[in-house]
Amino acid sequence: MAAEMALIKPISNFTRTSPKFITSTRKSFSIVKMATQSTASTTKSGKPKKAIKETLLAPRFYTTDFDEMETLFNTEMNKNLNEAEFEALLQEFKTDYNQTHFVRNKEFKEAADKLQGPLRQIFVEFLERSCTAEFSGFLLYKELGRRLKKTNPVVAEIFSLMSRDEARHAGFLNKGLSDFNLALDLGFLTKARQYTFFKPKFIFYATYLSEKIGYWRYITIYRHLKTNPEYQVYPIFKYFENWCQDENRHGDFFSALMKAQPQFLNDWKAKLWSRFFCLSVYVTMYLNDCQRTAFYEGIGLNTKEFDMHVIIETNRTAARIFPAVLDVENPEFKRKLDRMVQINEKLLAIGETEESSLVKNLKRIPHVAALANELLAAYLMPPIDSGSVDLAEFEPQVVY
Ligand SMILES: [Fe+2]
Ligand SMILES: [Fe+2]
Repeated sequence: MAAEMALIKPISNFTRTSPKFITSTRKSFSIVKMATQSTASTTKSGKPKKAIKETLLAPRFYTTDFDEMETLFNTEMNKNLNEAEFEALLQEFKTDYNQTHFVRNKEFKEAADKLQGPLRQIFVEFLERSCTAEFSGFLLYKELGRRLKKTNPVVAEIFSLMSRDEARHAGFLNKGLSDFNLALDLGFLTKARQYTFFKPKFIFYATYLSEKIGYWRYITIYRHLKTNPEYQVYPIFKYFENWCQDENRHGDFFSALMKAQPQFLNDWKAKLWSRFFCLSVYVTMYLNDCQRTAFYEGIGLNTKEFDMHVIIETNRTAARIFPAVLDVENPEFKRKLDRMVQINEKLLAIGETEESSLVKNLKRIPHVAALANELLAAYLMPPIDSGSVDLAEFEPQVVY
C-alpha cells in the first residue's frame, strides 16, 4: 500500500469523530500516537502534548468480510482461480527483490537537520501520513494472509509476503521520523484507530487503485528528482525507484485477484463501481495534495501538474483491468477538480473558525452541497469503456 490508500468517502469526516494524532513530548524525542479524542489530553508522564490535526482526508484503516474472502478464494468453489498464475506470483514475491534495499545511512539525519521552518513541519506530516498508509496495508494484508491459509495457501502466502513489504515500508518511514526526533507508535495506532469496513469487492477496487496510484506517485517523484537533483532535500526519495516496484507488484497481484473474480468486472454494476472508486481516489489525492502544495513545491514539483500526471497514468493502468474508467484526460475533468479544491478551501476555512460546531455545520451545508454537485457531475461525465483483454478467456461473450 502506498501513500494514498485511504481515500473513500471524502466528506464523511465532517463530524470529527475520528481519532487524531497526538504527540507526547519526552525530552527531545517524541512518540506520535493516534488516539481517540477522549484519551488525547495527557501523556503517561503528564507532560503536555501537541495535537496534530487530523485532516478531512486522512489515511484510513480497512477491514473486510473475511468469511466471504475465504469463499471467494476457495479453489474448489471458484474454477476461475488460475493457480499457475498465482504460483508464479508467489515465486516472484519469495524472490524478495528489495530484501537489502531499505538500508539507511548518515545522510538522512544530516538532511533532516538542514530542513527547518515550515518545510520541516510539512516533511514530518508527509512521513506520518505515508507511514500510516503503509501500515494500514500491512495490517490488512497480514490478516488476509492469516485468514486465507486454509482455503488458499498460495494466495495467503502472497498476502503475508505483501504485508512483509508494507511493514518494511512503514518501518523505513518511521525511521525517517526518528531523524526529526519523532516516532509513530504503531502498536497504539493499531488499537486506537477506527477501521472502515469494505466488502471484499470494494477492497479489491480500492486497494488495486491505491497500489497503482502509489506506484505512479513514487516513480514520478523519483524521476523528477533524478533530473533535478538540486531538490533532493531528503534521501528517502532515492529509495523510491525500487520501492515503487513493490507497489507495482502488489497492484498486479490485485489485478490477478480481480481476474479470478470476473463477476466483479463484467457487468454494469462493476462499471459503476469502478468509476466511483476511480473518482474517490483521484479526488481525495487531488484535494489532499492541494492542501500541501508547500511539500510538492519544496521538492520542485508543481502540485497540480504532478497530480494530473499521476491521475492520468493511474487511469491508463486501471483501464487494463477495470471495465470502465473516467475520462480524466478531458480538460473538463481537471476544471471540476479545481472547483472542488476551491470548495474544499472554504470548508477548511470554516473549520478553522472559533464558532460552535452547530454554526460551523450550518455554514458548511451549501459548500458540501456544491462539492457533492461537482462530484456527481464528474462521475456522470461520459466514461471510457475499458477492460482487460485477458477477460475474454473467462467471458468470451463480453466484448471489451
Ligand atoms: Fe503496497
Ligand atoms: Fe507500500
